[in-house]
Amino acid sequence: MILITGANGRPGSAVVREFARNGRPVRALVREPAKAEGLRGLPGVEIVHGDMLRPETLQDALAGVDRVLMVSSAGPPMLETQCTFIDAAVRAGVGHIVKFSGRDSIDGFDNEQFRSSRSHEQIQRYLFASGTPWAVLQPSQFMHVYFDEVPDVVKGELRLPLGDTTLAPVDIDDIAKVAYKVLTTPRHEGRIYPMTGPEALTMADAARHIADAIGRPVRYVDVSFEDKERAWLAAGYPPPRAAAFVQLFQERRRLGRSSVDLSTHELFGVEPTTFAQFARRYADVFRGDADYTVTPGLVVDGSPR
Ligand SMILES: NC(=O)c1ccc[n+]([C@@H]2O[C@H](COP(=O)([O-])OP(=O)(O)OC[C@H]3O[C@@H](n4cnc5c(N)ncnc54)[C@H](OP(=O)(O)O)[C@@H]3O)[C@@H](O)[C@H]2O)c1
Repeated sequence: MILITGANGRPGSAVVREFARNGRPVRALVREPAKAEGLRGLPGVEIVHGDMLRPETLQDALAGVDRVLMVSSAGPPMLETQCTFIDAAVRAGVGHIVKFSGRDSIDGFDNEQFRSSRSHEQIQRYLFASGTPWAVLQPSQFMHVYFDEVPDVVKGELRLPLGDTTLAPVDIDDIAKVAYKVLTTPRHEGRIYPMTGPEALTMADAARHIADAIGRPVRYVDVSFEDKERAWLAAGYPPPRAAAFVQLFQERRRLGRSSVDLSTHELFGVEPTTFAQFARRYADVFRGDADYTVTPGLVVDGSPR
């Protein structure tokens, strides 16, 4: 059996959906079953309840599991959550752990400088030392993070403190296709798979693609870090999270340039999704007419959406 953790979240649910699309059974670990409505009814998906921080709740989830995709939220508990989960998985005899990690597309970005990326490095070291066969997925910024900007986009603006910095965001569905292949085919032990999207985009490029997709003007506004921090706080981000984002965006702006790495897409035969395609697929979300849902337009006959 293959287990996907964090299955109520954006990347975890996309991988579960990819299993359903391919008609392959999978087990989905969720912390809150009430939030798993979008996964219920997907063919071949067994939903189990458990908390990765509480090993005593993971017995059912880990029973008979040979491979795991380990995903949890990017916040401060990630380090303890995933190390605790690795211990539980090793004790349960899981044969292969695929860690869902992350790495910025910015040239010269130092993972050790930022809590979230530093936690990924620490978890990876913990996993490597566990003695269990492992693989690591290392995607760049998700295209889906631009949904956080919808309240400004509906007013015709994309407001970020990035100047003409470029980023190379990747579509979660591309990552899900790679994750599916890593989890269902042999010979990935000890491999690290970096992924970015196919273009290094300025925020003016991103705004243009969103505008084209929704058929309304959207212009990029280069706001100050102070303005953006105020907006994040007003949107309900806890102050430490808003401060961490400011630090991250300052570093991105200081370094300024992203590289594209499609080696993993090419290795697994996954066609890279462009930001324009992504924006068109989610035009209703960017128009403010629909909420993002974890199971958009699922087709289960094996054909892509
Ligand atoms: N955002 C990006 O651009 C980006 C880019 C590259 C890599 N990443 C990495 O991708 C990962 C997921 O990102 P995200 O935070 O954006 O995902 P997310 O959508 O918040 O999904 C994370 C899921 O993990 C679940 N979870 C957290 N703690 C758990 C626990 N103790 N037990 C069981 N489930 C638990 C959450 O459950 P609930 O639904 O109950 O909260 C949530 O469904 C992070 O490691 C992040 O660093 C993110």
